[in-house]
Amino acid sequence: MTNSSVELKYQNQSLQLPVFEGTEGEKGVDISQLRAKTGLITLDPGFVNTGSCTSGITFIDGDKGILRYRGIPIEVLAERSNFLETSYLLIYGKLPTADELEKFTQRVKRHTMLHEDIKRFYDGFPRDAHPMAILGSVVCSLSVFYQHETGDPAYLAELNRVRLLAKLPTIAAYAYKKSVGQPFIYPDNSRSYCENFLYMMFSTPAERYEVDPDLIDTLNLLLILHADHEQNCSTATVRMVQSSGASMWASITAGICALSGPLHGGANQEVIEMLEQIHADGGNVKKYVDLAKSKESSFRLMGFGHRVYKNFDPRAKIIKTACDKLLKKMKVADPLLDIAKQLEEAALKDSYFIEKKLYPNVDFYSGIIYRAMGIPVNAFTVMFALGRLPGWLAQAKELNEDKATKIGRPRQVYTGPALSDYTPIEKRKA
Ligand code: ACO
Repeated sequence: MTNSSVELKYQNQSLQLPVFEGTEGEKGVDISQLRAKTGLITLDPGFVNTGSCTSGITFIDGDKGILRYRGIPIEVLAERSNFLETSYLLIYGKLPTADELEKFTQRVKRHTMLHEDIKRFYDGFPRDAHPMAILGSVVCSLSVFYQHETGDPAYLAELNRVRLLAKLPTIAAYAYKKSVGQPFIYPDNSRSYCENFLYMMFSTPAERYEVDPDLIDTLNLLLILHADHEQNCSTATVRMVQSSGASMWASITAGICALSGPLHGGANQEVIEMLEQIHADGGNVKKYVDLAKSKESSFRLMGFGHRVYKNFDPRAKIIKTACDKLLKKMKVADPLLDIAKQLEEAALKDSYFIEKKLYPNVDFYSGIIYRAMGIPVNAFTVMFALGRLPGWLAQAKELNEDKATKIGRPRQVYTGPALSDYTPIEKRKA
């Protein structure tokens, strides 16, 4: 808390609202006494100005394009870390020693398999089921396999965090295998986290499959870049569900469902579909930039704009470079990459996008990399979920350990009918 406060004057009353200051100087007005003292609540659709918690996990400065996990810049982690080390950093609050990382990695590897009965769940899904729906359903279903476990809640919470990290790639790879009609490939714990995922996705029992080390590195990079992003829609959802005391399985399922929306994680699928449409339409980039600007059209440039970043999204910069590098190495000439670059160039020169501070976000180039890796378009958001999982787990852990945590329960200002009579059915008018 700082020494400063905000004075609120309302109906001859004056109330001093204390100002809370974070480590990086960002300030929030503490309104916890507002309703008790004045009867007022705040109204902030979309929580544009509302801090729902204090958090020590991720720092974003949207104006300067800064993103840090536990104080470490994303650019540094992208260059030097791997996904499990970054997961450890997010969840436990510090970089692990070599011994801690080895133990954590081995623990995660112990839990990569799914209960055999879960495989039968996949039989019930239609072949063209969306993989995000499968991901959410199977994660939720896992809860019933562990529902009778008893013991120290902290130990069980830790075990379930490790289980989720270990099993999500297996669940995702099985969803892909189901969609292409190939046999499920069991995890191979001699492989690293990212290598094992690519192995489960793309190997078959019929042929030897070597995972390309460049794909492993690129996947590590993408997962690190997605690993946390403070109080975004899915993370806020995970926290909200967790605050009710619901299980970790339920909370992560809710996060997966929130992430699936096209304005959030689902945007990476929408970006490729949009680029495909522009390509099929002769590559007329200007037409789509104009459409996105038009008040008559609901079309938006997918992969553009962000609630927090108003300068550039540091993740998008890193992904664009990685995309160029991987496609060059794989000798892939993807026409969608050219269209994406033209679209970015056209939008960044356009006064509409400049004035509204709309820049490419994390989703703009990630899909082109996933395409080059062989990931089907409808599984792109699943890749986002794999990356975001440690962030969700870290945020849920932080919430559970925070003494200030209460069940999440926003207020509202009611705008429906005033007190009304119950009209008997025979007297009601259509
Ligand atoms: N294309 C065209 N216009 C846009 C775009 C876009 N991509 N994004 C925002 N705008 C316009 C809006 O029409 C609005 O204009 P107006 O003020 O004239 O009404 C203005 O910019 C502000 O947009 P809002 O939707 O109010 O901004 P908000 O912060 O609520 O939304 C969001 C941010 C959802 C990311 C938005 O920019 C968007 O829809 N982008 C496309 C979808 C996308 O890429 N989502 C992924 C985000 S990153 C992530 O979740 C991982």
